Amino acid sequence: MSKKIITLHVNGKDREVAVDERESLYETLRNELRLTSIKKGCEVGECGACSVLLNGKCVDSCIYLTVWAQGKDIVTVEGLKDETNGDITDVQKEFIKQAAVQCGFCTPGFILKAVEIVGANKPYTRDEIKELITGNLCRCTGYMNIVTAIEHAIKHNMDKLGIPYEVAPSTTSFDIPDAEKEKMLKDVLAMQNNDVTKA
Ligand code: FES
Ligand code: FES
Repeated sequence: MSKKIITLHVNGKDREVAVDERESLYETLRNELRLTSIKKGCEVGECGACSVLLNGKCVDSCIYLTVWAQGKDIVTVEGLKDETNGDITDVQKEFIKQAAVQCGFCTPGFILKAVEIVGANKPYTRDEIKELITGNLCRCTGYMNIVTAIEHAIKHNMDKLGIPYEVAPSTTSFDIPDAEKEKMLKDVLAMQNNDVTKA
């Protein structure tokens, strides 16, 4: 089938791409635009590794046609930044601080889901967060640290909004050696800076 040229709005920029109408958004973003934070896991919409934000909501890009994304605001981890200072977001900082990254395969998907959750501006409880992340799977089973990181990111947002919010006591929050934090930060920045050696 011949390809047609369409425009996608990705990470704040309009990008022209030649696509087959049957092509998934995963294929276009990763193979054409080299946004390698997006990972291929199950390919059937079950694991969330291929998540992207479409108009602020997480979508499994493996089961979403590229042509459907025209006119929508597409965000991947490469496009995340703190709008106030250009730094990485509170969500990314908390994933590092709470050691919510192990092999890192699921991390971009979880980070985007966390951005969606925090962006709802609601004081979600730990149980509600667990429910909200059921579409994302971590093969390293690091769920407790991921939930803790999301709770802390919500706390930062609630503080900015002036809404009282207490992070539930956790057994998973601990001090990580500086060298390990440094390594995690490099991994997160490599994802953000589209380093294909980390794909
Ligand atoms: S790869 Fe898309 S949901 Fe698993
Ligand atoms: S950190 Fe390895 S899959 Fe989640």
